[in-house]
Amino acid sequence: MAWEKSPPPPKPASSALNAAARDGRRSPISSSSADQRYLSSKCFAYAVRGNEPWISCQDMDNLKHVTAGNGLAKNGDLCDRRFKVLPKGCKLGKFVGEGAANAVFEFHLPDGTHLYHQNTRLLLRVAKKPVQDDRPKFNYIEQERYYRTRIRPILGPHVLHQELVIIRDSGIIGAINGYLTRNDKKRKPKFMGTTVDQSDWGFLVEDMRPDGEQVPYTPSIHHATENDLLVEFKPKWLSQSPSAPKNAIRCRQCAKELYSYVMEPDLEKPTPTMAKPCPLTLGRDDGNRVRTESAHRLLPLLDTLENSEHLSATLDVLRDEAAFKQLRSAQEENDRVGPLNADKSDANFSLAMTLRDCTCFAQISRRANPSRKSAQPLKIRFGDFDMKSPSFRLDYWRGVEEELIRGGFYTADWLYYAGSYYRPPTKCVLELSNTRRQGLPEVTHIHDIRADTKPTIGSTAVYQGQKIYNVNTDAVKLQKCLEAHKTAAPGPTADEEKRLKIRSSGVK
Ligand SMILES: Nc1ncnc2c1ncn2[C@@H]1O[C@H](COP(=O)(O)OP(=O)(O)OP(=O)(O)O)[C@@H](O)[C@H]1O
Ligand SMILES: [Mg+2]
Ligand SMILES: [Zn+2]
Repeated sequence: MAWEKSPPPPKPASSALNAAARDGRRSPISSSSADQRYLSSKCFAYAVRGNEPWISCQDMDNLKHVTAGNGLAKNGDLCDRRFKVLPKGCKLGKFVGEGAANAVFEFHLPDGTHLYHQNTRLLLRVAKKPVQDDRPKFNYIEQERYYRTRIRPILGPHVLHQELVIIRDSGIIGAINGYLTRNDKKRKPKFMGTTVDQSDWGFLVEDMRPDGEQVPYTPSIHHATENDLLVEFKPKWLSQSPSAPKNAIRCRQCAKELYSYVMEPDLEKPTPTMAKPCPLTLGRDDGNRVRTESAHRLLPLLDTLENSEHLSATLDVLRDEAAFKQLRSAQEENDRVGPLNADKSDANFSLAMTLRDCTCFAQISRRANPSRKSAQPLKIRFGDFDMKSPSFRLDYWRGVEEELIRGGFYTADWLYYAGSYYRPPTKCVLELSNTRRQGLPEVTHIHDIRADTKPTIGSTAVYQGQKIYNVNTDAVKLQKCLEAHKTAAPGPTADEEKRLKIRSSGVK
């Protein structure tokens, strides 16, 4: 175990704790006063031996996995894995971020020092309480085994350092929930009211924010210092979904972006062309128009930033990072059928979905460094490889794929509303590639719904061989969004318009 800038734990403390565990005291982590004294100033390592009553059988099985073989580790213990322990009196630092399943915070030990891994400060990641009761609980021990056995073999050194930490009796969960509740109004609306779960375990994760004092940058970049900044994005589906229509002109991610844009129109949200890179541009060496246009989608507002040329060159290097190729191959190898045909018991499909939902963190320098030949990112790591449960999620994934197909989000050339045609605001590699699809253009006909009605996908109509998809949504709002960038997208030619003529009898 790497201990940086913090002394290795003295053996006696750890064995005293093991003795406490052996004689069955309820809380082996903080029960004796001698341990308490030690804990109050430093963090220490605790060796799990395999007979701790506070660790459930299932958790213990996952913990033992690494020493599995003859069932005993070298010293005769059943498990013998060491974990850092957060002592009582640890202080919560700044809130770093939260998602649907986890929250991440800075913290420091009672004496004010921090924990490090290879000179990088560690943050604390803890699991949130599931919002719906039927959601599978987020088990960190299982997650860690998954990380070690399924993820690291694929991405090796590109994986963000993450280690289990014992937080039992540290009081840190109470402090985190206190913070979240006090600051509820400042949180993203979708996370308001959510809290973290009581747990004995958390993760220590390598801090990917650049080192040094954080300075305000742009609203879309949360972490920057005077010299460097953190670019963060989800690479998503790096190749087309195997169950997408063969005549698709959009990849799975661009189709999904268009779906959200049409089904939840919002003038405040960036258009799909600005929001995220088309994943098909990542980890590909072949040059095309979309690749050169995609840098600003890794870093929105790139053109308006200082040193945009240098930043753009760095993002080009990032986009071609070999790890994206590894990630893409692993996504493809583990899912050859797509969500429409996947099986609930297929663990490989579930792995592919995890690999499609990870996060890429890249630290880049804000200025060119004359001593370095090319504009390399300073550090690239992939994290957030959360296990997915297909028995819980497959119906949802399948439902999304069906809606993407039925609404024409993969295939429609045009959106049609109130007598006007609009080019969907996506710039997918497939859409812009030179080998355009043959045959008649396809149209998604937008119909307006009342404000209190849920958006839906209607049935598809075929007129003289031309497919017309029907989507019911807040069309008035959507039209405002589409009008906002219509000038950039020329309408159909007279000839195209003749062929596209939509009958007013279009089925809803
Ligand atoms: N190692 C890290 N360094 C810097 N920031 C981080 C790190 N890990 C997480 N964050 C920040 O915290 C946020 C939430 O973290 P995390 O991805 O762990 O939550 P999540 O619930 O798994 O998210 P999602 O819902 O996207 O799966 C991230 O979007 C990121 O901004
Ligand atoms: Mg996650
Ligand atoms: Zn795409």
